[in-house]
Amino acid sequence: MCSLLPHRSTTMHWGPSLACMLALLAWLSDAGRLVDRCGDLQFPDVVCIDRYGTYMPGVFKREPSDTYRSTSIQDPSFAVVKNAKFLVFDSERARGVLGSQPSVRNMFPVDDGATDAPVYVPDTNELWIGGLRTGDTSQYVVDLGQDNPQPQKRTLSPPIYAANGMRYHSGRVWVSAAGGNDTLQGGPYHPGIYSFDPKTGNSKVEANNYYGWFINSANDLDIDSSGRVWFTDPLHSRNMGVNENAPFIQPAVYRYNPGSGELRVVDDTLEFPNGITFSPDGKTLYVANTAAAVGNTDPNISWEEAGPLKYNSTGKRTIYAFDVTSDGILQNRRPIYTSMDYVADGMRVASNGYLVASAGYGVDILDAGGSHLARIQLDFIATNVEFAGPRRDELWIVGHGQVARAYIGLTGLMPSTGAAKQRLHVQGHTHGQEHIRSICYDPNYISNSGYYGLNCFRDTVHGYYRSDDEARYV
Ligand SMILES: *[C@@H]1O[C@H](CO)[C@@H](O)[C@H](O)[C@H]1NC(C)=O
Ligand SMILES: *[C@@H]1O[C@H](CO)[C@@H](O)[C@H](O)[C@H]1NC(C)=O
Ligand SMILES: *[C@@H]1O[C@H](CO)[C@@H](O)[C@H](O)[C@H]1NC(C)=O
Repeated sequence: MCSLLPHRSTTMHWGPSLACMLALLAWLSDAGRLVDRCGDLQFPDVVCIDRYGTYMPGVFKREPSDTYRSTSIQDPSFAVVKNAKFLVFDSERARGVLGSQPSVRNMFPVDDGATDAPVYVPDTNELWIGGLRTGDTSQYVVDLGQDNPQPQKRTLSPPIYAANGMRYHSGRVWVSAAGGNDTLQGGPYHPGIYSFDPKTGNSKVEANNYYGWFINSANDLDIDSSGRVWFTDPLHSRNMGVNENAPFIQPAVYRYNPGSGELRVVDDTLEFPNGITFSPDGKTLYVANTAAAVGNTDPNISWEEAGPLKYNSTGKRTIYAFDVTSDGILQNRRPIYTSMDYVADGMRVASNGYLVASAGYGVDILDAGGSHLARIQLDFIATNVEFAGPRRDELWIVGHGQVARAYIGLTGLMPSTGAAKQRLHVQGHTHGQEHIRSICYDPNYISNSGYYGLNCFRDTVHGYYRSDDEARYV
């Protein structure tokens, strides 16, 4: 017999029989085969799903709560999907998305429960990781300079409780924190927006209420080119065991301006706004709706009784795109992707604009318009992702009980201040009330590090960067 999966096998040395060659020929010409090799990418770690698998021959069935890979299906070629590390849906763009040797591996276990909020700090080459753990106010810190990076726990001063999202901007880490507790650390602690200096560990609260109401469950955030913090506020932190209070206000997406203090709603149409990220040019905002994960919001039920989120497969688990106007208003909400497994959670954009979204037991890679290109498969539920490392070529994936690192063909955007040392010249002039400086960077440094040709920016006396170009990050 010859193998129908032509991995370099020893049968080739024996010389394949005529029947074997015919079978192989038939296999090669079988356009209906559902799952196949992906060019020269390593098989069966990487598999291509033909025509998105939208025609499954014969009998097949997927139960509501099941994963895609557990679909029962007659086609024998589907068997390799179970253990594949990468599923490719767009074979033409597979190389661009995955590179020539994609890899992913689990790095270390973490406390079970929703480990979340990974953020890369370029100043210290560390990855910080938050999470929702009842009563625990520490974060994980991973020194990426190690050969085999391992986490240590560190507590900020004052502590930040239940960091659900974190982003680096201009030397500080901004946090959307979901914890609410009247007695924690000897005083009331409220969900909201916090920030800290990753070098000193000193933190401060930025926004903790909406006209006196507690924020429900600050979940995830991104920061625009003028330093404004856009964050999602669903209702679920009580179900995650980190908030004693029932929700008071509708789920919404907010824009917080650290300069003026203004906190205003930008969207109130999503039942469970969750992961949030801007496109590289800042003109599109992506927000995941996780409504298929259902919580108990009855104010008469305590957080202990409320219980964990339940999964409802007919609920919304869609990523939406919005246009962002120059005034910072959201327009043209449109669904771009419904996650193939569980719910889409934390997201990042790559420097080429592709969207990388954690979703159930894996991470989906979409193009800027939402076309599904590929999926990284995992053995744990992913909650969030972050591009890290000096070249932003390490994709860290955090989730329930585990943290993994992948190397694919995409790199992340370069955040602010990391390039401060590379300034070539700074020129100042006054424009109205603002003192504006032009800052230009060495173009070689820029192209090596993912700036893709953008090299001149302006900033204001407030320290928030503005760009004449398409870039959000300096
Ligand atoms: C609130 O804090 C107390 C410690 O003061 C802790 O025992 C309790 O588990 C916390 N509850 C929640 C929901 O955060
Ligand atoms: C909560 O309890 C109060 C007092 O018993 C009652 O008036 C109210 O209707 C209850 N709310 C809900 C949502 O059941
Ligand atoms: C599941 O979600 C659908 C759509 O939102 C809703 O109609 C249905 O009531 C939900 N079921 C449960 C049990 O929450």
